[in-house]
Amino acid sequence: MATGRAGGSGDVYGEDLAHVHDAGFLFLADAAAAELVRLLARRPEPARVVELGCGSGALAARLTAAGHEVLGVDASPAMIALARRRAPAAELRVGSFLDVEIPPCDAVCAIGEVLGYGADGGNGPDALAVVLARAAAALRPGGIVLLDLAGPGRVPGGRSSRRDAGPDWAVIVDARESGRRLRRQITLFRERDGCYRRTEEVHELTLHRRADVLTALRGLGLTAVSRRAYPGAPTLPGHRVYRARRPGPPAGRPTRARRPARRPDRAGSE
Ligand SMILES: C[S@@+](CC[C@H](N)C(=O)[O-])C[C@H]1O[C@@H](n2cnc3c(N)ncnc32)[C@H](O)[C@@H]1O
Repeated sequence: MATGRAGGSGDVYGEDLAHVHDAGFLFLADAAAAELVRLLARRPEPARVVELGCGSGALAARLTAAGHEVLGVDASPAMIALARRRAPAAELRVGSFLDVEIPPCDAVCAIGEVLGYGADGGNGPDALAVVLARAAAALRPGGIVLLDLAGPGRVPGGRSSRRDAGPDWAVIVDARESGRRLRRQITLFRERDGCYRRTEEVHELTLHRRADVLTALRGLGLTAVSRRAYPGAPTLPGHRVYRARRPGPPAGRPTRARRPARRPDRAGSE
């Protein structure tokens, strides 16, 4: 058995965990993609979508298949390598959502509790407001923000241990919640040529309170609502989905011909 180590600050979703995520944990990306495709279908023109923490490209693949343009950014080179195979029509970059310049767009999304990850050491509790402000500034009128985040209560009772397995992998996740922090100790085994390789990662997440996220989004001039889950996705404890919108008609919508203002009827006014 080979042993590897990945994890800690700045080093999440190495090759093996990226494979496991892609093989068994795309349910949030799939459900969010279905919702975004539905929301964007109302537009007359294809949309430009920026996906922060795009992972292995599940959402990007569905959005590009629906005719939209996607820029996906992820801190993990292994995730981006998978995404390039899954979503070849998307523009994909290795980078942090804390630094990436968000171009003018019709939607910004961050699925899978992405914006809570502390992999980039700069991502503390206050960084969320900065990322949301950059996303809001990039949104065209009628533009959408769709994201989900882990919040307090994500690990009921404060501690949990969970096992999952697929045809060529097995994973144990020991989670501990304390205050506004969630720590996941991940041990995984991946089979390659008859041998199992063991890898470990540690993920530290900030837990964001629903009221704080809604206040931040609304303070940026967006309308915002939250729900417990994407339609069709399971409800996870402490997990929240946020949908926000910049007011205004989406670009390209045919404007209704306005009636000329009625002139006073001269005959009647005299
Ligand atoms: C749970 S995965 C979700 C991936 C994808 N959105 C999905 O739903 O399938 C979290 C992702 O966030 C990425 N990530 C974590 N911190 C990041 C950062 N600072 N900048 C960009 N991506 C980051 C990880 O590399 C990983 O791909």
